[in-house]
Amino acid sequence: MPDADEFVVTPYEVRGKVDYDRLRELFGTQELTPELLQRLRRLAGGELHPLLARGIYYSHRDLEGLLTAFESGRPFFVYSGRGPSGPLHTSHLAQFELCRWFQQRLRVPMYVQITDDEKFWSRAGLSREETVRWGYENLYDILALGFDPKRTRVFFDSRSIAALYPLAVRVARKITYSSVKAVFGLEPSANIGWIFYTALQTVPAFWPSWAEGREVRCLIPCGIDQDPHFRLTRDVAEGLGYPKPALVHSRMVPGLLGEAAMSTTGGSEDGALFLNDPPKTVERKVRNAFTGGRATVEEQRRLGANPEICSIWALWRTRFAASDDELDRLTADCRSGALLCGDCKSRLLERVQPFLRDHAERREKVKEWAESTIVTEAPRPI
Ligand code: TRP
Repeated sequence: MPDADEFVVTPYEVRGKVDYDRLRELFGTQELTPELLQRLRRLAGGELHPLLARGIYYSHRDLEGLLTAFESGRPFFVYSGRGPSGPLHTSHLAQFELCRWFQQRLRVPMYVQITDDEKFWSRAGLSREETVRWGYENLYDILALGFDPKRTRVFFDSRSIAALYPLAVRVARKITYSSVKAVFGLEPSANIGWIFYTALQTVPAFWPSWAEGREVRCLIPCGIDQDPHFRLTRDVAEGLGYPKPALVHSRMVPGLLGEAAMSTTGGSEDGALFLNDPPKTVERKVRNAFTGGRATVEEQRRLGANPEICSIWALWRTRFAASDDELDRLTADCRSGALLCGDCKSRLLERVQPFLRDHAERREKVKEWAESTIVTEAPRPI
């Protein structure tokens, strides 16, 4: 990437101050325009998911084509996934929340991929036991968002390999070493599991078409950092007789300490709000979080603060503001100096704590049926 000095965004690294519009240009994706959002709103029965309405999702590939096909009666499904390397934090939920929204509004099937193999290959410090254990923990969190057990299927890579492999071998033959190298920039010391892995991330995009023996289009909500994988997917799709998946991309949610993205690894524990953080830890993290505030109260009252760089504002924006109006009011009060960071944090904590409590309850219930969603068999022998 030419702007390597300023920022880096790959599936395996997000660093620097990301210019999201520039990134869209570099990746060659399309802008999620107001017209397209309007169309989605109509299709979904009049409302837009806050993550769409508030610009967290901002980029796409081929969404228009997918919607046009859907409007003329052709089916699609949503697909997203998680590489389990630790507990989920709040911003990991964005891609799954959008999937759930599509499932609830348009009654489409959802396929989740849990890539316990990927993280074992790409993170030297993790054991198999850990990636598998986090795989289950993460899966419960994902399903707890409210997926319909009848319309949700899970590929848990190491357990679902018999179901994935017949397609994976065909996909892998179409992807060359040099394109993996060009797209991910892997070092010569990268293990061959990691090099192969992207083939497995492609498979779910084609799997329903294969299983049903007809064209079922795929829509992938994901962080824009995952786009490189799906460029390869789109490149090989037609050669294998499957439709290219469409994508909607989100920005990365900044970390609480001002990092480019909330992250499970690399940064400090305090950079992210994990779904399993106890209330005291949540309080500490929010209190210590990086804001766009001024050095003194007096200055802030006089000059106002800067929400654009504030990690707390990012949380309001992605999830905790109950409405767009509330977010607008909060933003205005922040800019004018009427709202001080300490008070803003207290108000946020009143939202975060119950959210985490409710989530933990829903998560317990999911455990009863999570296992039944895991796909273990190929649709037909090949
Ligand atoms: N590679 C992703 C991660 O590191 C996991 C993943 C698998 C994924 N399939 C996906 C993410 C589809 C988004 C969409 O977390």
